[in-house]
Amino acid sequence: MITKFNHVAIVVPELDTAAKKYKDILGAKVSSPLNYSEHGVSVVFIELDNTKIELMHPYGDESPIKNFLEKNSGGAIHHICLEVRDMKAACEKLKLNGVRILGGEEPKNGAHNKPVIFLHPKDFYGTLIELQQE
Ligand code: CO
Repeated sequence: MITKFNHVAIVVPELDTAAKKYKDILGAKVSSPLNYSEHGVSVVFIELDNTKIELMHPYGDESPIKNFLEKNSGGAIHHICLEVRDMKAACEKLKLNGVRILGGEEPKNGAHNKPVIFLHPKDFYGTLIELQQE
């Protein structure tokens, strides 16, 4: 079912400072910050040869990661993203196995404009998993 590792997302207290740290100390290639008002996040992408890291910060008062940052004020890993070939089949299998999908069972378009779902962290060892259509 899962095929590739797509990204790890890290919530940070200050996007510019975090991006600069990855760039200056780790020598990473970092993008300019992008605001996704519909998702309530600002994101800096760090492109690596085999995967990417997304540094995220809340955007707007309704941001779904606002509480997360309040609880983890120094920053923390928020989720990992894995790819699946067939989202519909994946949803059916998860449902059959009692895995909870956050925010309803219908996939929504994610930041990369591909269908995504999020699995309840309590069903996967404390890790929030984003599944993205390949
Ligand atoms: Co993500």
